[in-house]
Amino acid sequence: MTIVFRLKGFEQEGFEIQYAVGVLRRGGLVAFPTETVYGLGALVWDEEAVARIFQVKGRPSDNPLIVHVSSVEMVEKVASRIPEDAYKLMEKAWPGPLTIVLPKSERVPRTVTAGLDTVAVRMPSHPVALSLIKKTGEPVAAPSANLSGRPSPTTGYHVIRDLMGRVEVIIDAGATLQGVESTVVNILTEPPMLLRPGAIPVEDVERILGRKILVPGFAKGLEQAEKPLAPGMKYRHYSPNAKLILVEVPQYTLECLRELAGYINRQASLKSNGKLCVVATDETLQYYSSNGLKTLSLGSRRDLFEIARNLFPTLRKIDEEDCRIAYAEGFPEQGLGLTIMNRLRKAASEKHYLNC
Ligand code: TXA
Ligand code: MG
Repeated sequence: MTIVFRLKGFEQEGFEIQYAVGVLRRGGLVAFPTETVYGLGALVWDEEAVARIFQVKGRPSDNPLIVHVSSVEMVEKVASRIPEDAYKLMEKAWPGPLTIVLPKSERVPRTVTAGLDTVAVRMPSHPVALSLIKKTGEPVAAPSANLSGRPSPTTGYHVIRDLMGRVEVIIDAGATLQGVESTVVNILTEPPMLLRPGAIPVEDVERILGRKILVPGFAKGLEQAEKPLAPGMKYRHYSPNAKLILVEVPQYTLECLRELAGYINRQASLKSNGKLCVVATDETLQYYSSNGLKTLSLGSRRDLFEIARNLFPTLRKIDEEDCRIAYAEGFPEQGLGLTIMNRLRKAASEKHYLNC
């Protein structure tokens, strides 16, 4: 049986969190909000509870979990060594959507790290998440609270849809602020490497470190990663049931966007059965108005924060709308644009490249 607690705003002191703490301590699973997406948590030391996370999500066992902390002392419990660069990042970017890969301590069960010698750690900034971890008094291992392969959950409703009846507690605190997962960096390599672009742009992380971070092709969503480099990145992700076709152009000027839309309109007119949809933007909606396409807008191209926040809910909407095929427009790969393109490329089953 699953208990759903609905919190208004950032309530942190009620009996709900106290109850959830008890559930974690007794080896249960708790879905909770963070500022990025909802997480599905277990006590990091409890190997059985952690194993159940994989089972409940249908997650491949070689895809490690992120360990969530509420203090630097907790990092010292799960990491065997903390390089100077990590302290810099923790000081400037925490609490917040940055996950740091560190050498793991003996105590962290191998199930958490999928057999790796490293552990990924982050301190979320959502007051409910922070309060839950702090009151538990121990780090909490948590992947995103979706069924494996589905878009990450950005509302309590998404979590209920995916996990009702499978976990002990779901804490529903409404929509998350960022809507995309944390940025994952490995500072143990020279130069440091981006493993997953996320809610904090890699350019910001470079500024904090005072040096360049390598952005490999798989972080752009372009190719599959070798397992030891970035576990979990080899899987297709976030996918709606509909066939998602991503259309990219070399630059996203108004002129190129008009051509991009023309291409989608022509492609759509060749298809005869099933509902066709397009994930557009406020700037391009007008180009599709004459066609039989159902349009869904991610927001304005001038506000990538808004686009990122709307991305996963829109991918879920594609299925709620019963689209058979959905086309999506690309974005320039700067700042949050890189994060958005990583998610879109991983969600897409076809990628079309257009010159303009
Ligand atoms: O924003 C987030 O990061 C959310 C919230 C709940 O905090 N969590 C999240 O977890 O997105 P998940 O499991 O969906 O993604 C975690 C990713 C894994 O796919 C893996 O690639 C990477 O973090 N990761 C975890 N441990 C790692 C390690 N030791 N080395 C390299 N990458 C690791
Ligand atoms: Mg995930």
